[in-house]
Amino acid sequence: MRFVDIITKKRDGGTLSEAEIQFFISEYTKGNIPDYQVSSLLMALFFQGMDAVETATLTMAMAHSGDMLDLSSIKGKKADKHSTGGVGDKTSLVLGPLVAAVGTNVAKMSGRGLGHTGGTIDKLEAYDNFNVELSEANFIKQVNDIGLAIIGQTGNLTPADKKLYALRDVTGTVNIIPLIASSIMSKKIAAGSDIICLDVKVGDGAFMKTQEDARTLAKMMVDIGNTVGRKTLAFLTNMDEPLGYKIGNSLELEEVIATLKGHGPKDLTEICLQIGSYMVFYADNAISLDDAYQKLLAAIENGSALAKFYEFISAQGADPSKPFKQAKHKIPVLARKSGNIQKIKAEEIGIAAMILGAGRETITDIIDHSVGIELCRKVGDTIEKDQPLAYIYSNGKGEVQAITYIEDAYVIVATKQEPSTLIFEIID
Ligand code: URA
Repeated sequence: MRFVDIITKKRDGGTLSEAEIQFFISEYTKGNIPDYQVSSLLMALFFQGMDAVETATLTMAMAHSGDMLDLSSIKGKKADKHSTGGVGDKTSLVLGPLVAAVGTNVAKMSGRGLGHTGGTIDKLEAYDNFNVELSEANFIKQVNDIGLAIIGQTGNLTPADKKLYALRDVTGTVNIIPLIASSIMSKKIAAGSDIICLDVKVGDGAFMKTQEDARTLAKMMVDIGNTVGRKTLAFLTNMDEPLGYKIGNSLELEEVIATLKGHGPKDLTEICLQIGSYMVFYADNAISLDDAYQKLLAAIENGSALAKFYEFISAQGADPSKPFKQAKHKIPVLARKSGNIQKIKAEEIGIAAMILGAGRETITDIIDHSVGIELCRKVGDTIEKDQPLAYIYSNGKGEVQAITYIEDAYVIVATKQEPSTLIFEIID
């Protein structure tokens, strides 16, 4: 088989066979196909797309390109949750201990942030000594012992996706729905959980800018997951403003703790209760969705969700009682005019946080866990001129530029605005 024939077939609108897709993934993973040829195929895919069968075949080829975790020695069902990436999105860190506190196992592999979106693993590393690299045996043992473990992607999980994602990032080919679907689902399938809850973000700060595109992506992923025997469902959720109020690693952990104590932001709390209910419902067929929701609410109220969070942080080597490092400066960002908040462009807020040092522009950048942004107003709120829209927490890097981004992110209008819709749709 010649790779150039695969490129030209796709360029001309053809459908790739299973053998061609297998050849592409296995030979590219082994380093036998150069990046310039794969870049060409990626661009052909951008224009010609892939049908459902091609996408499912690609997903499974990528899932099998490296190790597949075998979680069968964990007692009971294992639930996983994945977000397509947002700003201020700390749901996994609330959801993990929340559902584990009511007996649903969470064996989760998470990623790092890149560009304007944050990553769960970076946030956890705001705790000194937090160990994100458990061996497979210790990962399984921890889930059996306390019901929850979160680790970074292991060395040889979906190596094909690692190579392809890095190439897509620099060739303008990230935003191709079948490639996003196969990238996410290959990792979820290789990571071994029985239940996969997908949070597909829609809006300014997300890959999917419209509900229509988000629905297409969500349906594709749900179909792939269910076809290979994993109970998969997807939520379409709003990313036309950041989730919660805090953006930046230790700031987000503070908000996670507040949420587990029962006084977190409404949007974050509700999204966690909703997604969590489905995780518990599918892990335990004897419970109804409503009962699952009430059980989770009780776990927040009786302190067991917070206790589970601390137990999990300790189990992975950190001391949850140790205060986070604080940023040196707290600077207000003032409203330029009075009015009502119509939108907070999440991408601009994410970029502002990255400029302060909370995120990385390139994979080798070092993160400052103490910096970030605290929003003072959300969509639907009113503001007077010169009142703070937000605070930045900084250590002397990028303040002026970050302030400009935050000022530009807030869209302030004269007419009264409703709070944003949180969940648009559930595809189950
Ligand atoms: N997240 C992923 O893991 N892969 C993509 O392609 C996009 C978002």
